[in-house]
Amino acid sequence: MRGKRTAIPLLCRALRLMPSKPSSKTSVGLTLRTGPNAVGALDRVTFHPYSDFLLHDMGSLGDGITQNQATGRLMRTAPLWGVRAQTTLLHDGRASTLEEAIAAHDGQGKKARDRFSRLSSFEKAQLIAFLKSL
Ligand code: HEM
Repeated sequence: MRGKRTAIPLLCRALRLMPSKPSSKTSVGLTLRTGPNAVGALDRVTFHPYSDFLLHDMGSLGDGITQNQATGRLMRTAPLWGVRAQTTLLHDGRASTLEEAIAAHDGQGKKARDRFSRLSSFEKAQLIAFLKSL
């Protein structure tokens, strides 16, 4: 699939979900494992959330709320796992499509936003299809 060479590495490296030299074995990105749980389905399960769960300076996309050391521009990366099931996106639901959510990235996400905007329609469609597969 062509997107694997272009759009998908762009996404994954931008989000730090994948090493800079992705291989097919590591293409799932950050791997986490749940702790012991009485519910079998949640017990020590390996999963791939497609997020670094870190706070990032998102510039104008920030919520303006200071909580302890997290100032109003610092936002935690939302997991992209299951994003296809969401009808509203971003912390305030301002985006209703994946393209709108990406276009709202600012600050540390601005470079990824700008790179996405320069992709061809075909590459954009590939990246969106990839996001909807998570
Ligand atoms: C091509 C690259 C990228 C794509 C396709 C992408 C996609 C998305 C999408 C679809 C969301 C909305 C998720 C939701 O509402 O559940 C999101 C949220 C977010 N992304 Fe990205 N992203 C990219 C790059 C980045 C980068 C480089 C950063 C920061 C270094 C970043 C930080 C965030 C943060 C903090 C949020 C949560 C914002 C909020 O809740 O308002 N993203 N991203």
